[in-house]
Amino acid sequence: MTSAHHLPPITGVRPTVLLVEDEPDTLQLIAEALTAGGFAVAQAATGADAIERLRGFAYELLVIDLRLPDLDGMDVLNEALTLYPHIRAVVITGFGGVAEAVQAIRRGAIDFLVKPFELGKLTRVLGAALEQRRLPVESVAVQAPLNERFCFDNIIGVSAPIQKVFSMLRIVAPISSTVLIQGETGTGKELIARTIHACGPRRDQPFVAFNASAIPEALAEAELFGHVKGAFTGAVNARVGRFELANHGTLFIDEVGEMPMPLQAKLLRALQGGAIERVGDSRSLKLDIRVIAASNVDLRAQVKEGRFREDLFYRLNVIPITLPPLRARRDDMPLLAQHFVRKACIANRLPQRTIGQKAMQILMSCAWPGNVRQFANAIEHAVAVGGNATEITAEMLPTDLGEPQQLGLLPEVAIPDEGLNFASVVSQLERDLILRCLEKTGGNKRQAARLLQLSRTTLIDKLQRLNTAVA
Ligand SMILES: Nc1ncnc2c1ncn2[C@@H]1O[C@H](COP(=O)(O)OP(=O)(O)OP(=O)(O)O)[C@@H](O)[C@H]1O
Ligand SMILES: [Mg+2]
Repeated sequence: MTSAHHLPPITGVRPTVLLVEDEPDTLQLIAEALTAGGFAVAQAATGADAIERLRGFAYELLVIDLRLPDLDGMDVLNEALTLYPHIRAVVITGFGGVAEAVQAIRRGAIDFLVKPFELGKLTRVLGAALEQRRLPVESVAVQAPLNERFCFDNIIGVSAPIQKVFSMLRIVAPISSTVLIQGETGTGKELIARTIHACGPRRDQPFVAFNASAIPEALAEAELFGHVKGAFTGAVNARVGRFELANHGTLFIDEVGEMPMPLQAKLLRALQGGAIERVGDSRSLKLDIRVIAASNVDLRAQVKEGRFREDLFYRLNVIPITLPPLRARRDDMPLLAQHFVRKACIANRLPQRTIGQKAMQILMSCAWPGNVRQFANAIEHAVAVGGNATEITAEMLPTDLGEPQQLGLLPEVAIPDEGLNFASVVSQLERDLILRCLEKTGGNKRQAARLLQLSRTTLIDKLQRLNTAVA
């Protein structure tokens, strides 16, 4: 509580806004209007400046032009929303920037205005956003700890299913419970396993991977548990196994479903006892290991078919994480595409480039049986083929992407075993529909409303409400 000798806060009770705009006259004009409208305005003319200010202060509102001289405005927006999930962000954009603005709304911005706009409109939008915010003051303090905030950065995704994965990661990273990650090939199982390790207390200890399908059955046991000299023909020297190498750290058992039955029994014994025996040695070795297992085949089904031990399944399935296939989270594709384009350009020392609309449409309509890995490869291909092109066009994509899928009325919704939140899925659908209409009409809200047979105010109201619900 403020006591008498405390200086009054400089901003008084004025709501705080960070205004990010590179064009000095516009910056000045908007800043004046907002100040007159009762806001406490901080200004940034570059992305770097904006990020520095964001790191230093929890603004309630963000007004941002996405085209900045130094950084991608979307990255600044991302940073803002990662640091302060409750910040209300409004995008201002030039005539050509509507597609990006819609992207920004996908990411969590609440509205956008196309320049030139009436300044009073911005104050009204911000005022309404504040009303909606209704954020209990305490929740500011409940923000994620610093190291965790930056930890999941390499996992790209904003869709509801991937957000669920993020919440699981927050729970499991700090503890040592066994995790079982299931998902189709290329969905990011290894990435998630490494992230859990890297974000938890064992991060300075080894992360050791063991792939049950990559090693001939006869050698697998020695590989996993080690062996003494002369334990079997060819065991000329003693060898330390993966278990021992992982001591105090994490052992990642990949493709655990491929493990032969006899080895499954030995793995179960090691997990239950917290100890191993090297092949050829009867002494047992106590170990402190966190186990993360992964499988791209459904282990429960394997159990039913008698190909996987039920007791081992339960021993591994302490905390299940199921990664959705890419086709069930098309919302993530634009961000993933951008991410992989950037990566491929950097890796090949090529100039950065954008993705053309047609190319993006194709990317978003493919089935992607190889999931994120296949998606990344397709983009890498397109970047390489494009040479110094400034935009990725449809012709640059690989030709073997398969027939685009008929999306049907509704996008495929993954239904996890534990069920899903009906209201939140429906909100997501509503929001997607509105965003698609906005894209179709080049950002014209009146036309988009007409397409949906809604009034313009209902559409805007819905969009803002849905953003709050989905965030
Ligand atoms: N959400 C994501 N954001 C960014 N990159 C991702 C994401 N998911 C997967 N990737 C990338 O896609 C590639 C495949 O991921 P990974 O190897 O973790 O998949 P996997 O599920 O282990 O596949 P497999 O079952 O074939 O072994 C990796 O390069 C990984 O970094
Ligand atoms: Mg893998």
